[in-house]
Amino acid sequence: MDFFELVKNRRSLRKFSDRRVESRTVEKILEAALTAPSSRNSHSTRFLVVEDKDLIRHMSYMRDYGSAFMAEAPVAVMVMGDKRATDLWVDNCAISATFVQLAAEAAGLGSCWVHVEGREHVKGHPEMGDAESYLRTFLPIPEECGVECVIAMGYSPYEERKPRPEQDNSGKVQWLK
Ligand SMILES: Cc1cc2nc3c(=O)[nH]c(=O)nc-3n(C[C@H](O)[C@H](O)[C@H](O)COP(=O)(O)O)c2cc1C
Repeated sequence: MDFFELVKNRRSLRKFSDRRVESRTVEKILEAALTAPSSRNSHSTRFLVVEDKDLIRHMSYMRDYGSAFMAEAPVAVMVMGDKRATDLWVDNCAISATFVQLAAEAAGLGSCWVHVEGREHVKGHPEMGDAESYLRTFLPIPEECGVECVIAMGYSPYEERKPRPEQDNSGKVQWLK
C-alpha cells in the first residue's frame, strides 16, 4: 500500500482476532522501527516483546483506565529508552513507537499505544505508585531504561475498519512563502 494511503487508513485497534501473529512478522516490524531517527543518532530505544498470554494480561492491569483492552492482544511490545544514552530518550521512544505502529499497519496488523511514562497505577492515588513501577515487579525492565509505552498489536476481527472521523485542521498549519 502507498504510504499516504497507509497513514490515512490507520486507526487504533483495541479488539483483536484469535489469529496468531508470527514472531517473524514482529521481527520485521521491529527491524523497521530500529531504523527510526534518534537524537544524535543515540539509538536509545529498547524493545521488550511479550507474547505470553498471562504476562500480557498482567500488563493490562498497569493502570486502572485505558489499558484493560490490551489483555486480549496476542503481542505487546514495550518501548523503553536507555536514559544513559541521551536526555531525549522519551522523544526517541515516541518516534520508535510511531514507527512500530506504522510498520504494524504495513504488515497487516492493527495496534494501539498504551501509555506508561508518568502515569499513575491508580488514577488520583499517587501513593499506589506508577504504571512503570507496577510493570517492573514482573517484567525484566533494565535498570537504566525508562518505559514510554506499550504497543498492543494483533490482527483485526473486523471486516472493515472504522472510518477516520472528520477532523478540523483549520489553523494548525501556517505557511510563510
Ligand atoms: C501518546 C499517546 C498515548 C496514548 N495512550 C493511550 C492509552 O493509554 N490507551 C488507549 O487506549 N489509547 C491510547 N492512545 C491512542 C489514542 O487514544 C489514539 O491514537 C487517538 O484516540 C486517535 O485515534 P486513532 O489512533 O484511531 O487515529 C495513545 C496515543 C498516543 C499517541
